[in-house]
Amino acid sequence: MAAWNELPKERLDALFGENKKRYDELAALGLKLDLSRGKPGPDVLDLSNGLLGALEDWRAEDGTDVRNYGVVTGLPELKNLFAELLGVSAERMIVGGNSSLTHMYNSFAMLYQFGAPDGMGGMDSKPWQKADAVKILCPVPGYDRHFGAASDFGAELVPVPMESDGPDMDEVERLASSDPAVKGIWVIPVYSNPTGCVISEEKARRLAQMRAAAPDFRIFWDNAYGVHHLWGENSAPDIFALCGEAGYPERVLYYFSTSKINFPGGGVGMVAAGPRTVERMTAHIKMQTIGFDKISQLRTVRFFGGKAENVSAHMGKIAEVLRPKFELVMDRLDSEFSGTGLVSYERPKGGYFISVDVPDGCAKRVVALAKEAGAVLTPAGATFPYGKDPRDSNIRLAPTFPSLEELGSTMDLFAVCVKLAALEKWLGV
Ligand SMILES: Cc1ncc(COP(=O)(O)O)c(C=O)c1O
Repeated sequence: MAAWNELPKERLDALFGENKKRYDELAALGLKLDLSRGKPGPDVLDLSNGLLGALEDWRAEDGTDVRNYGVVTGLPELKNLFAELLGVSAERMIVGGNSSLTHMYNSFAMLYQFGAPDGMGGMDSKPWQKADAVKILCPVPGYDRHFGAASDFGAELVPVPMESDGPDMDEVERLASSDPAVKGIWVIPVYSNPTGCVISEEKARRLAQMRAAAPDFRIFWDNAYGVHHLWGENSAPDIFALCGEAGYPERVLYYFSTSKINFPGGGVGMVAAGPRTVERMTAHIKMQTIGFDKISQLRTVRFFGGKAENVSAHMGKIAEVLRPKFELVMDRLDSEFSGTGLVSYERPKGGYFISVDVPDGCAKRVVALAKEAGAVLTPAGATFPYGKDPRDSNIRLAPTFPSLEELGSTMDLFAVCVKLAALEKWLGV
C-alpha cells in the first residue's frame, strides 16, 4: 500500500468514511479499556506470592533481629544479592524503602540543600538552590516522574533527543560543556521508559568522560528495568568504572528497585553512588529513619535464596507472561500500519513500554478519540518535560497490565483512532 500522505483525495475520503464507520461501531460497544498503566497485571504478581510467606524466622545472616531498629543502609545480604545481579559494588549501596523514586527525590533534596559531594579532595559544591540556574537534561521521550522530581526543586528541564542507543551525545556534550547551569542528566540505561532502548558502551563512556562546565555535573542513572529482559539479555555498561577511570568518582547516582520484580510498592529500593556521596546520603538518611523495613529486605533475600541466578530465573517467568502481550501490540502495529507511513516505533527488547510516534499534530487527538470510545491511553505529551511534546506525536503504550483479550480490543481501537486522527488532519475535517 502507498503511504497514506501520498494518496489522492478521493481515496483519503473513502478511507475516512470506512474508519469513521468502524470507530462509531467500536464506540457503541461501551468499551472500558486502559493501556496507560505501567504496572504488572495480576498474572505477573501471582509469580511472587511466595514472597508473602518467605520468612520463617527473623534473623539476618549476622544475627541481626530484623524486627527491630537499625542497619540504616540495609541488610548486607540484600546488597550482596543486588551486587551479584547488577555488577555494582555492595559498598556503594544503600538499600531500603519501598521505592527508588524516593531515593531519586532525596538525591535532588540533598543536592539542592547541601550541595554535591566532591570526590577529588576539594570542597563540596555550593547547594544547587544557591545557583543562579539549574538545568537538567531530559532525554525525550522519557519518564514523567523524572521530569517531575527535578522540576519540583525548581530545575529547568532541557529536552535532548533520545536515539536508539541512548541520548544524542553530540547535543548533550554541546549543552553540558557550554553552560555551567547544566548540572545533570537523566538516563534509563536499559530498556528505557518509554522507548525500550539500551544505552551503548560508547555513549556511556562519553557521558562519563564529558568535560561538563559544571564541576558538580551528575548522571542520574535509573536502572529500573535492568533485569527486565524479553528478547535477549542486555546489561547496562559499568558506569561506575567508566566514571572512575575518567576521574569523576562521584558523578553517578544509580537507582534500582524490586518494584517490577516482585510487588510494586511492596519491594525494596536502592541507591548507589561514589564513596563521598554514599557517606553524605547515609548521614541524611539517618535523620529520616532509624532503619528501613528490614523484614521486607530479608523476605526478598529468602525468596530468591540469596542468589542472582534465581532472580534471573524469576524474571524469565515474568518474560513468558509479558512477551505475548508485547508481541500482540507489535503485531497489530505492523499489520495495521505497515506501508501506511502512519506510525513508527522501535521494537523494545525488554522493559515495560512501547513508544509509538503517530503523524505530527495527531497524538492528542488520538488519545481524545480513544477516550471518547472507552480506552484510556497515556496522556499525549506525558513523555516530554512540562507535558509538551513539540511535535504532538509520541504516545506511550503500556501492554503489561491488560489481558491479551483487552489488549487486542484496545489495539483495534488504537489503530482506528490513529487513522482517523491523521485523516481528519489531512482532510481538514
Ligand atoms: C524508569 C522508572 N523508574 C522508576 C520507576 C518507579 O520505581 P519505584 O517503584 O522503585 O519507585 C518507574 C515506574 O514506572 C520507571 O518506569
